[in-house]
Amino acid sequence: MVKKFPENFLWGGATAANQYEGAYDADGKGWSVQDVTPKGGFGVVTEEPTEDNLKLVGIDFYNRYKEDIKLFAEMGFKVYRTSIAWSRIFPKGDESEPNEAGLAFYDKVFDECLKYGIEPLITISHYETPLHLAREYDGWTNRQLIDFYENYVRTLFTRYKDKVKYWLTFNEINSVLHAPFMSGGIATPPEKLSKQDLYQAIHHELVASALATKIGHEINPDFQIGCMVLAMPTYPMTPNPDDVVAKLEADRQNYLFSDIHVRGKYPSYIKKYFADNNIEIQFAEGDAELLAEHTVDFISFSYYMSTTETATPEKYERGRGNILGGFPNPYLEASEWGWQIDPKGLYIVLNEFYDRYQIPLFIVENGLGAVDKLVEGDDGELTVIDDYRIDYMNDHLVQVGKAIEDGVEVMGYTSWGCIDLVSASTAQMSKRYGFIYVDRNDDGSGSLDRYKKKSFNWYKEVIETNGTSL
Ligand code: BG6
Repeated sequence: MVKKFPENFLWGGATAANQYEGAYDADGKGWSVQDVTPKGGFGVVTEEPTEDNLKLVGIDFYNRYKEDIKLFAEMGFKVYRTSIAWSRIFPKGDESEPNEAGLAFYDKVFDECLKYGIEPLITISHYETPLHLAREYDGWTNRQLIDFYENYVRTLFTRYKDKVKYWLTFNEINSVLHAPFMSGGIATPPEKLSKQDLYQAIHHELVASALATKIGHEINPDFQIGCMVLAMPTYPMTPNPDDVVAKLEADRQNYLFSDIHVRGKYPSYIKKYFADNNIEIQFAEGDAELLAEHTVDFISFSYYMSTTETATPEKYERGRGNILGGFPNPYLEASEWGWQIDPKGLYIVLNEFYDRYQIPLFIVENGLGAVDKLVEGDDGELTVIDDYRIDYMNDHLVQVGKAIEDGVEVMGYTSWGCIDLVSASTAQMSKRYGFIYVDRNDDGSGSLDRYKKKSFNWYKEVIETNGTSL
């Protein structure tokens, strides 16, 4: 039983432009890295956009945003997280002047949210680097990306300063370790990418994030600017101290990012890793000061699963869902995609982050990707009886409540893919997360009509009761 979520708790849902807007080349939009990855973030890269790429049409939010935001408002959303497609604003990424049609689209989206009292929470870069920046500059490996990003954020902050208060600088910034092209626009294939170049790219992103925080606070001191990390608590496979050390090392790969975002400097533990791997980060003049002086206002994170680490990997089999490393936990069940389901892991993440940093936390992604079946409901309307999703979210939110009781400061919760959209890792439509079903199939067929699932009313009640119905 959950005692109390704070009065101003920001309940809502989350999406990303490239996974649901469609209209991939409308009104001057340039191509992004997503337009050439038809099989998802770990799959092939095509020369040009190809018809089998579901993201090109997405769920056509670009044309249906009013209908969709109305449904979010009906659930009672207080906040709505989405991203701005960088290549709608700067089609190639390196122009000096923005594309007015792109800016005007987001004005309409934000106005529609504000009309219902929904606060936009905006990810500035969510896996959708302009393709030109990837192909011509090799993405974030190139320091010039900081200048292009600066121009982009300055444009956004200036234009939307009175409409958007909550900003996230990079989606799951630590994912660049696993998916350099999707996450960092790095065109060099992973097997050819040196650790030196990868960590230099990370440095550029972290500096750009600090710069965005600085510029944002100058333009509107009320802005709340956060980082966004992929949170995945790691358990040692056994109590063997060697496994515990393996866990510690895996954790540090992730903590590196939030440590720099929050504490403003590279942690001491990374020095040995850098030395062992011949990595020497090039700091430009002013980088250290920027990082130190412009730390984030809050930490936001995604949470889907936990993982386990071991010092003897040869003894275990990697799971289908452990695409980012680690091994399945024998104590946990997994989703149809092999992602281990671990509500207590969310309690652990919240506590560990708060113990470490003592700044507010925001859960900006969580949810269950599952195959849904459209059926006729009692009222004759088409729906999905998604009790599995309700159970998943209920169990996770109960753990959020427990962390809040422990004293952890949690700003809000935006469930991932509150309306069905195209999956990031596999580019499927059939991996659904939403409260709202979208009639579109993996082969691209479907009417794109929207239907409320059973979880729609469940979530509405959770928000209405501020969590006491959990
Ligand atoms: C996060 C991403 O990694 O997980 C989202 O920020 C993504 O973009 C979400 O959609 C769920 O992953 P997937 O692969 O099931 O879509």
